[in-house]
Amino acid sequence: MKQFQQVCYNLDDTQKLARKFARLIQNGCFINLYGEIGAGKTAFVKLVADALDVKEKVTSPSFVILNEYHTGSIPIYHFDLYRLENEGIKTIYDELREYSEGKCVTFVEWAEFNQNEAPFNHIRINVKYYNDDSRIYEFESLGKDDIIEQLSVL
Ligand SMILES: Nc1ncnc2c1ncn2[C@@H]1O[C@H](COP(=O)(O)OP(=O)(O)OP(=O)(O)O)[C@@H](O)[C@H]1O
Ligand SMILES: [Mg+2]
Repeated sequence: MKQFQQVCYNLDDTQKLARKFARLIQNGCFINLYGEIGAGKTAFVKLVADALDVKEKVTSPSFVILNEYHTGSIPIYHFDLYRLENEGIKTIYDELREYSEGKCVTFVEWAEFNQNEAPFNHIRINVKYYNDDSRIYEFESLGKDDIIEQLSVL
C-alpha cells in the first residue's frame, strides 16, 4: 500500500493534480472516491476526463448512477452510488468487478455504500474539504502502488 496526499489551494491546483493522475492511469484503473458532499469528487473526475480528451460535457452521475464517456483516449465509467438502495448495491457490486477488468477507467463516488471493500486492485481517493477553495486529496493504492509512487515524484 502506498499513500500520497496533496493540498490543492484552488481549482487550478486540482487541475494540475488531475492531469498528472490522468497520465498515470491512461492504460486503465479502478478508483473509489470518498469524501463529504461538495468535497470535490466530481470536480476531480471532470478534470481527469478533460485530461483524457473526453469531448462531451462531464456531469455528476448522482441521479443517473452511471455516466459513460467514449470520446477520450480510454473509455471512462463514472458511478455515483449515493441514491442506490441496498438491493441495488448488491446487484451493482458484481457489475463493478467487471468494470475493474477491462481496459477502461472507472470512478465510483460514494464507494462506501458498497459494503465490501473492492477485492481487486484499485486506488482510493479521499477528498477533504479544507476551506473555501482548498481541498486535500489523499491517495491510497491497494495493489496499484506504482501509480501512487509516481504521483508523488511527478
Ligand atoms: N480546489 C478545489 N478542488 C476541487 N473542487 C473545488 C476546489 N475549489 C472549489 N471547488 C468547488 O467545489 C465543488 C465540489 O463539488 P463536487 O460536485 O465535485 O463535489 P462532490 O464531492 O462530487 O459532491 P457529491 O457528494 O454531492 O457528489 C465544485 O463546485 C468545485 O468547483
Ligand atoms: Mg459528486
